[in-house]
This record gives sequence, C-alpha cells and structure tokens, in this order.
Amino acid sequence: GAIYRAGLLGRRPVVPTNPDALAEAARRRMTKETWAYVAGGAGQQRTVAANTAAFGRHRLVPRMLVDVEQRDLTVGLMGRRLPSPVLLAPIGVLEMAHPDADRAVAAAARATGTPMVISTQGSVPMEETARALGDTPRLHQLYWSRDDDVVRSFVARAEKLGADAIVVTLDTHLLGWRTADLDLGYLPFARAEGIAQYTSDPAFRALAEGRTPGGESLRPRLRELPAALRTLAAIARHHPGRFLDNLRSPQPRAAVETFLDVFSRSDLTWDDLARLREMTTLPILLKGILDPRDAALALDHGVDGLVVSNHGGRQVDGAIASLDALPGVVETVAGRVPVLFDSGIRSGADVAIALALGADAVLLGRPYVYGLALAGADGVRAVLEHVVAELDLTLGLLGVRSVGDLGPDHLAG
Ligand code: FNR
Repeated sequence: GAIYRAGLLGRRPVVPTNPDALAEAARRRMTKETWAYVAGGAGQQRTVAANTAAFGRHRLVPRMLVDVEQRDLTVGLMGRRLPSPVLLAPIGVLEMAHPDADRAVAAAARATGTPMVISTQGSVPMEETARALGDTPRLHQLYWSRDDDVVRSFVARAEKLGADAIVVTLDTHLLGWRTADLDLGYLPFARAEGIAQYTSDPAFRALAEGRTPGGESLRPRLRELPAALRTLAAIARHHPGRFLDNLRSPQPRAAVETFLDVFSRSDLTWDDLARLREMTTLPILLKGILDPRDAALALDHGVDGLVVSNHGGRQVDGAIASLDALPGVVETVAGRVPVLFDSGIRSGADVAIALALGADAVLLGRPYVYGLALAGADGVRAVLEHVVAELDLTLGLLGVRSVGDLGPDHLAG
C-alpha cells in the first residue's frame, strides 16, 4: 500500500522488493570484500545455490472462495505471541554493512515487533542492542567458546537482558572453506573494529588481562589454553579496539582459524549440553540441525527447539539444501518442540513454503543485511515489511486464514 501510494507521487522505493534486485543494489553499495563475506558461501557455492533453488521445486496450490478478509499471521513461540513467523537471524560483524550495525537491526526489529536473535559475534555489546530493542523479544545466539567462563558470562548477560532462549549454533565449530573470502584475504573481517560483543565481555576481558573474573591470576590457566586463544588474549589486551587488525597475516586462513578458535570448539559432544543446561534455566535451541538422527538426539537430550539450517551454505559445500532437510526433521520431531528454519528465505512466498513443509517460524538472514547496507535501520525495516506483506498476500491468495493452517495440503504432491 505504502509503495503504491508513493508510486502515485512518482517515487520508487529505495529498497527493492525483488530479492535479486535487492541483492544487486546491496552489492553495488558494498565493497567487494564485504559483498564476498556476506553473500558468499563455502567452496563452489553449491549449497548457497541449492538453498534458494530448493524453493523452486515446491508448488503452492491456491484454493478459491474462502473468506480471507481477516488473516492471522501471528504465531506462538517460547510462550509469546509473535506478530509474524519471521525472526531476524543472528548475523555477526554487521559493522561491515553499516556503521549502525546491530543497533540499526534492533531499531527495525522494534519498529516491526520482529524478534531478533542477537549474534555472539555482534558488532555492538548485546546490552546496547537490547536497549535499542526496547520490549521486543530477543534470543541469544551462542558460539560455544573454548573457555567455559566466557560461555557462562555470555549466558548470564543474555539472561540479564531478558533473552527468551539461548540458540546454540553447532555448525560453525570450524570455519567453512569460504573461497571468496580466502581469495580476498578476509580483509573486511580483519579490518572490523573488533567484535565489541567479545571485548565488552568481563570474562573475556579478564582472560585477555590474565586474571579470572574473581581477580586471581590466570597465568597458570592461560598456559593450558590453546596457543590461538593465548594469542588472541594478548592481542585483545594490547589493542582492545582493533584486535582483529593484528590477526592479519600472510596466511589469511590461519589468521581466521586463530580468531574463530575463541568462539567455538570442535571437541563438543552431546554430553556437553548438560553443562549448558546447568548454566541456565532458559530454553535451549540448537541451530544447524539437518539430519533427523540429530533431531532425535536433540530430543533425547531435552532441548527446547531446533533450527534447521546449513548456515546459509557457508559451511559445507555440497551440503543438503536446508529446505530439503526440513521435512525429515519435522517428521522426527512430531510437534514435540518448535522447529525453526533458515537458509534460503528470500521472500514472503518462501516463508509460506517453509511453513507448509512444517516449520513453525523462519529466520531471515542475508536479505536484511542487504537492507542494512542500503538504508540502515530503514532498510532493514523495509525488507522485513516486504517479506511480511508478501506472506500476508500469499496467505490470502492461497485461501488460508491463518499461518498456523499452512501445511502439506497447500503443496502440490
Ligand atoms: C551468518 N550466520 C550466523 N549464524 C550464527 O549463528 N551466528 C553468526 O554470528 C552468524 N553470522 C553470519 C554472518 C553472515 C554475513 C551471514 C550471511 C550469516 C548464519 C545466519 O544466522 C543464517 O543461518 C543464514 O544467514 C541463513 O542463510 P540465508 O537465508 O542468509 O542465505
């Protein structure tokens, strides 16, 4: 409606509604390194391509003469009623796209009532993001650091700012083979002002300064830490603002591995979940589940929800398209916990397809970063409004009154 009215006055929207045009406009706005980091994925980009192509293999079948004058887009999740089944995916290092970074995304979330999953790798301390969110629901995405004190500290901070859940991302315990970034030397990453989310964390700072949060010397413990973390800690101590600069090296991959090491560890197993469970009473969601057997294990371990995701094709080149993994997980979970979905959502019609295949809600990823690059908070808001408006129209045109009613019935067999 707003776009149509502006059109009557001869104005075209700054943020395109066409997903390809949106990406193209953002590409022109970003440096080539930032574009590579945001749009790129693993290896030959097969999974990046598969994620969106998968939607093209499903066909919605509209029904006629249903009264759809009143449509209901709301969904129940984590004990809340959300205005739509769309959440903002956790995306790190947003300062690359726009200086307002997480603050702008939070402002758009607030303007639209869209829950935000705050990234561990946020460019802004989560407390600041939370302030910008006002009362808007927030979840905290966790990369499981090598240091349990850091994990505990992040979880405590998330609890304090009213997070509804902890979303543990499992698929990034090693950084994927991201060819475009590797060939450009991971420069935007290295130039980032620093992941303020980390440098603002008391446990991380204590680590960097060589003492425990209780104040005792950490030197003996530091010696036990992997070399990578020791390096990062030393760098953070001397250059709290721009510690990533120092990770630039002739071997960009080695530098990024070093950097990632503090975020995540690759020796975690299902048994470690119990430790996280002891740290918090918040619901725990696992992000990155693709195999129904892992969905079953997650249920056995008492998790409170899953996010079917392949990290936007950024981790395993050749991994199954996230949408192709969704039905198997949905079948295994059989309604016992919510199943969220991401990786490939570009439009409201895509949301409808994911919901028809059994997702309870979806996370929007790259498209909102494109909106951010184009017009800051307004750009993120425009992208969200476009997706939700198209979902609302699609629902009506399908002859469906409520998003909760979308199901396999609305797909061609
Ligand atoms: C991500 N993603 C991500 N996930 C996460 O759990 N923590 C993070 O910090 C990030 N950071 C991040 C940065 C960038 C630039 C991208 C594109 C993605 C993954 C994200 O949450 C989500 O799974 C994907 O973005 C979904 O794929 P599409 O829909 O964006 O293609």
